[in-house]
Amino acid sequence: MSEILIQGYRPLEGEIKIQGSKNSVLPMLAASILQQGILKFTNVPIIQDVLCMVGILESVGCCCQWEGNSLTVDGAGVCCAEIPQEDVGKMRSSILLMGPLLGRCGRAVTWQPGGCSIGSRPVDLHLRAFSRLGAEVWEDREGKIEASVNELQGNTIFFPFPSVGATENALLAAVLASGTTVIQGAAREPEVISLCQMLRQMGADIFGEGSERIIIRGVKELSGTTVAVVGDRIAAGTYLAAAAAAGGHVRILEAPWEFMQREIQIFRQLGARVEPVYGDGGRTAGIEFWMERRPGAISLSTSPYPGFPTDLQSPMLAVLSRAEGVSYLREKVFEARFKTAEELQKMGAQISVSGSQAEIRGCERLSGAVVKAWDLRGGAALAAAALAAKGETKIENCIHIERGYEDICRDIHLLGGKMEWVRK
Ligand code: UD1
Repeated sequence: MSEILIQGYRPLEGEIKIQGSKNSVLPMLAASILQQGILKFTNVPIIQDVLCMVGILESVGCCCQWEGNSLTVDGAGVCCAEIPQEDVGKMRSSILLMGPLLGRCGRAVTWQPGGCSIGSRPVDLHLRAFSRLGAEVWEDREGKIEASVNELQGNTIFFPFPSVGATENALLAAVLASGTTVIQGAAREPEVISLCQMLRQMGADIFGEGSERIIIRGVKELSGTTVAVVGDRIAAGTYLAAAAAAGGHVRILEAPWEFMQREIQIFRQLGARVEPVYGDGGRTAGIEFWMERRPGAISLSTSPYPGFPTDLQSPMLAVLSRAEGVSYLREKVFEARFKTAEELQKMGAQISVSGSQAEIRGCERLSGAVVKAWDLRGGAALAAAALAAKGETKIENCIHIERGYEDICRDIHLLGGKMEWVRK
């Protein structure tokens, strides 16, 4: 069990380069199955979820090779369409391999990912998309899911909610289908855009990403390419939340400014000064952030992109625990994502949760405590709160944090915070 120790109550000051995006690289890695050449990824975050995805790719026949943060995947040898049950338990995103396996092998076998601590996470929309493309889908009593098809056929797919994963899975299945697929109600997240750009580089014919209607004309085959993974907007937002809670002046290089407009607007509303960092050719190359006072109280709802991301709801709960006044936070994507509130209460936060809404009475000072990470972003939120809290905080069960942050202690240390692994 890994644990983190934090000495808080000091402003953050420093600069880091943000890691590559977890949610962007996972579907891109799944796309490796679709081609028989070589895909090269640079700026890959070395985190548990990526290592797990690479393990699954190897188990179905891909050959993967690391060199620092670069990863090469040779998809020539894909020979198996079954995802091991233990890997599905470790990482929900393994479901993203179903679409590519159907496209490549005409068959895919996996397991119901089940619930998790942020709420029930069904995969009905993913399976419905495969059915619309002509696949037969079965599920047995043990939760084993099997899909098979002779040849995927393009069709119209309608999503009643813009699910990120289901949009990605539908895309990954449709690129090699015969005919045209139209995804209505598609997710507009930057991760969907990056996936479409990569698939196009591989030879796919896709139009409309970033809107709620994506059109895919199936092609016969895809080839290898090289892709640089974009900076992680959620990891960047987490560190900005830590600086908003603890105060200070930080520069997060390679944070994707253009994809973080809603977060930037909210941080400004809290009282922070937020400016872009410019790089070569006048392009934005990061975010500079100053927080010189206690945050102000706000009302905020999470929603699909371009709304405020649900993945930053817990870090924002940590910030608002220190705000001047009463704030309201409504969760509109995952119904049970307030478990972190109980842990923040152990640090003195005054949060009352009713259904999908939290009322937060900001307090001048949080205090260090022994707390437990229950999920990835909740764990990172505890770290943000601990940096603002007086005294020492111990976060237990940090395995969740390692699923998504390459080395949170290294990053916070570079930002001037006192945070170290006690057991890793
Ligand atoms: C992705 C992100 C996750 C983020 C989430 C929402 C990755 C690897 N993970 O997760 O970090 O929090 O988007 O931005 O990219 N739903 C259904 N049926 C389905 C699929 C989803 O009812 O078949 C519901 C979910 O229960 C949830 C909502 O749709 O309430 C959003 O889920 P979705 O967008 O699919 O999230 P993920 O792709 O799992």
